[in-house]
Amino acid sequence: MRRRWNSDEHEGKAGRADIEKPGDDSIRNFWLRRRFVDLNKLGAVVTKGVSNVPWEGNPTPRIAETYGGMLNAVGLQNPGIDVFVERDIPFLTKYDTRIIVNVCGRTAEDYCEVVRRLASQPVDMLEINISCPNVEQGGIAFGQNPKSVEDITREVKRHAKQPIIMKLSPNVTDIAEMAKAAEAGGADALSLINTITGMKIDIHRRTFALANKTGGLSGPAIHPVAVRMVYQAAQAVKIPIIGMGGIMTAEDAVEMMLAGATAISIGTANFRNLAVTAEIVDGIREYMEQYGVKDVNELIGAVK
Ligand SMILES: Cc1cc2nc3c(=O)[nH]c(=O)nc-3n(C[C@H](O)[C@H](O)[C@H](O)COP(=O)(O)O)c2cc1C
Repeated sequence: MRRRWNSDEHEGKAGRADIEKPGDDSIRNFWLRRRFVDLNKLGAVVTKGVSNVPWEGNPTPRIAETYGGMLNAVGLQNPGIDVFVERDIPFLTKYDTRIIVNVCGRTAEDYCEVVRRLASQPVDMLEINISCPNVEQGGIAFGQNPKSVEDITREVKRHAKQPIIMKLSPNVTDIAEMAKAAEAGGADALSLINTITGMKIDIHRRTFALANKTGGLSGPAIHPVAVRMVYQAAQAVKIPIIGMGGIMTAEDAVEMMLAGATAISIGTANFRNLAVTAEIVDGIREYMEQYGVKDVNELIGAVK
């Protein structure tokens, strides 16, 4: 997504008005209105993973469409913490929303280096990705064993100035065990789920759809798995949970909250509709009105 067409217009808090150019009924403005989401409307923005040095990511093709979702093996391509601090944080601080930075690494020290660099930055929370299935080393290696989850959580927490959210992998046998391990290590919150490892084969070429062979499945196909795991994790720990996985509508978001999520996060749906996050905010409000829910907190874990 292009973030802006003219950086001069983004002085001070940026709002929808800056983007839409009120009164301008040109075709260009019409498309801008449709293409951009008003970040001021969101509780928080979670960034793409950031590492201590730039990562190139995996070879292409690295995205494939599937039934009810997509497979990706982007491999956490990112420009590294230096560019992120200089370029992306100043952009995000112009909006009236919280900033959550997703942190990735290959070793415990990689994670801690990024966390230390962010300590003095205007960032509200850190989301530690120990669950990426698409990088050979690191990520998932930390996320599939309860002892490693507890150790990496404790280590990161020692260096962090902001609250830390541990992002858990669904590619485990017992999600409750992983949730408890992160809580024991001192996590302030959990987020789940990351993508589920999958594979797609192109039958015409008789080759893998992704150069990486395997990729992470996301989108509506994984939603019931995510709801189940958020429910199980919420039963196991006292810390708040950010629920994600195939949320496409306000109904999906409410379902996730009823399962025990304090907040929800939306990934793949943005590929289909860039305004989906703001539409879901409105949809949750409509649901609350329809059912006479006064406070959104009443929904958290309220499934009977
Ligand atoms: C193209 C793509 C890139 C992703 N990059 C990251 C990432 O950098 N860090 C991370 O923790 N999760 C990453 N994820 C996982 C999502 O944040 C999310 O956990 C997962 O896709 C499930 O939610 P969704 O179905 O709403 O996308 C990525 C997912 C997709 C599809």
